[in-house]
Amino acid sequence: MKKTFDTARIPIGLVGLGLMGCSITACLLMAGHPVMAVAPIPVDLDHAENRIKEHLRGAYREGLIKEAPEYYLKNLTITEDYKDLAGCKLILECTLEDLDIKKAVYLKIETYASRPFQSAFYRTLHNTLSDFLGYTGWSLPTQHAFLK
Ligand SMILES: NC(=O)c1ccc[n+]([C@@H]2O[C@H](COP(=O)([O-])OP(=O)(O)OC[C@H]3O[C@@H](n4cnc5c(N)ncnc54)[C@H](O)[C@@H]3O)[C@@H](O)[C@H]2O)c1
Repeated sequence: MKKTFDTARIPIGLVGLGLMGCSITACLLMAGHPVMAVAPIPVDLDHAENRIKEHLRGAYREGLIKEAPEYYLKNLTITEDYKDLAGCKLILECTLEDLDIKKAVYLKIETYASRPFQSAFYRTLHNTLSDFLGYTGWSLPTQHAFLK
């Protein structure tokens, strides 16, 4: 049976607005999701919106989307406040592959995001998953959500 989703009703949080974070944000906007994008470091604020707009411009030029970038950007909020992640149905983390950074970011997500939520790595750590789960101290149900 085919299942359809109304992406406008599935807000997505994303932490980390470098190359990958901005690209993924643009894709989520193109798919119709509201996106709450957290800039974990101030320098992200200097370039993130323009970079995302550029991706949308390119997609528009190539005929991948029907509307101009402004239409999709209405669904984007860029913030420095992790509290704004509350209410997101899914939270993606796109920061550097550094265990201390990931640990700090995940603790903030865990603190402020509403539950239940599922978080996902864009990319796995070089360390094993069990090492990482050991660091977070997550409970088994949370680990299961993570592994889905
Ligand atoms: N760029 C690629 O082609 C590519 C491909 C596959 C996987 N990845 C992976 O995606 C992840 C992000 O890569 P990228 O290319 O976007 O890197 P990037 O250098 O463009 O961006 C890194 C981002 O990490 C965050 N960050 C940096 N220092 C931080 C700190 N101290 N605390 C919290 N957040 C911090 C910031 O949001 C920063 O913009 C990495 O794990 C990388 O291995 C990247």
